[in-house]
Amino acid sequence: MMKILLVTYTPREESNTAKLVQAYIDEVGDKQNITHLDLVKTPAPLLLEENLNALIKRNFMGMALSEGERSAVESADLLVQQLLAADRIVLAFPMYNLSLPATVKAWFDAIIQIGKTFTIGESGYQGLCQGKKALILMTCGGDFTEEPMVSMNHATPLAESLMGFMGIESESIIAHGLNQYVDRVEQIVSQAQQNVVAYIHQNT
Ligand SMILES: Cc1cc2nc3c(=O)[nH]c(=O)nc-3n(C[C@H](O)[C@H](O)[C@H](O)COP(=O)(O)O)c2cc1C
Repeated sequence: MMKILLVTYTPREESNTAKLVQAYIDEVGDKQNITHLDLVKTPAPLLLEENLNALIKRNFMGMALSEGERSAVESADLLVQQLLAADRIVLAFPMYNLSLPATVKAWFDAIIQIGKTFTIGESGYQGLCQGKKALILMTCGGDFTEEPMVSMNHATPLAESLMGFMGIESESIIAHGLNQYVDRVEQIVSQAQQNVVAYIHQNT
């Protein structure tokens, strides 16, 4: 049985991204295997003074942490454990300002930890999460399918690079133009939902 980690950030009422997530949940037969991390309700910790310095001390310098420092990194460590326990990851978010919403970047910042999800060896960086696969679901207001817009999408390429950095193969399904093609929103969302269903059939 594949364990699925569903990571979502869909704060808007009537969110179209949430409709793609729902299509995924509906199509996956056994919902028991899905762990849902809702970044709206439980955001990942930002890297700030206390936790960042504790992470550097422990992960890069191999030093023991005080009780206070241990508790400062606990929430990030729990997110790492959650990721490591999953075989499949589904990450869903809308494009914000040409990139990942800050909450999603904070999740990556929490889980990308040396010695846990990646390492540095003789030949350079190496992901430690081989064998996992990720599906990235994104909706955006503009249409990023043709240049010069393709190069302005810093969201899914970044998410795929960060997954790859951890050794996780990933694929993105994007619903483009939801604010641009206002009379075709339902059709665009429905096509993306069909792509989600097709992805599940190809990847089980
Ligand atoms: C704060 C904010 C920033 C946004 N920035 C962009 C953007 O840079 N490019 C874009 O195409 N759409 C942008 N949008 C539009 C959303 O990506 C788009 O409407 C998306 O489908 C919203 O998803 P949702 O329905 O799940 O909330 C932005 C929306 C918000 C609220």
